[in-house]
Amino acid sequence: MSYNIAIDGPAGAGKSTIAKSVAKELEFIYVDTGAMYRAIALYLIRNNIKEDEQDKISKYATEANVEIVYENGEQQVILNGENVSGLIRTEEVGKMASASAKNPAVRSQLLDLQRALAQKEDVIMDGRDIGTHVLPNADIKIYLTASARERANRRYKELKAKGIDCYLDEIERDIIARDEQDMNREIAPLKQAEDAVLIDSSYMTIEEVVKEIILLYAKSK
Ligand code: DC
Repeated sequence: MSYNIAIDGPAGAGKSTIAKSVAKELEFIYVDTGAMYRAIALYLIRNNIKEDEQDKISKYATEANVEIVYENGEQQVILNGENVSGLIRTEEVGKMASASAKNPAVRSQLLDLQRALAQKEDVIMDGRDIGTHVLPNADIKIYLTASARERANRRYKELKAKGIDCYLDEIERDIIARDEQDMNREIAPLKQAEDAVLIDSSYMTIEEVVKEIILLYAKSK
């Protein structure tokens, strides 16, 4: 049987950085489910679909075939045969991913892919509904969060380091809007699973969070 770790939490909590690091230490596969939603969002944007056109989103989503492959241990997202991993990290794609993730057709399409990966391999999978919905029997569930201000601050520093002009208040507003959308949708909203361990990383380093998860793993064995 494969071993599964689920990490859920709001945007910018550090899920992917931490999950990647844990995966490396435990020699697990890291599965970034947000990237799958982003690939479908890219397909919708390319077809000029707008965030509020839910009927069109249902229809077009069925045309977007998403596959996951691994190159040198790094997840690559394939959309209708094209590797789109380098095209999905924009704010525009993130916003569309959050809006289209409300759609039942989009969610059910990705659910099978996510469950199949977790059944086959030891995985650490991050997203919004992994512990509550995708892998309800995961061996360890983490709900990783941080204050909206701190998450905005981290994003602000990241963008500034890349030389991108941005405003902290605006980033914080966008983060709060994304939280609202992800937490208040009807299907599989973002929430802490009853049996998840809550980690608030507002005042923790990446290394501290990684260590805590590795400890949970060691205890569970
Ligand atoms: O983690 P991320 O920012 O790459 O995710 C983009 C959006 O995809 C997120 O705002 C909501 C959606 N998503 C989801 O609904 N369920 C998941 N398991 C992962 C992401």
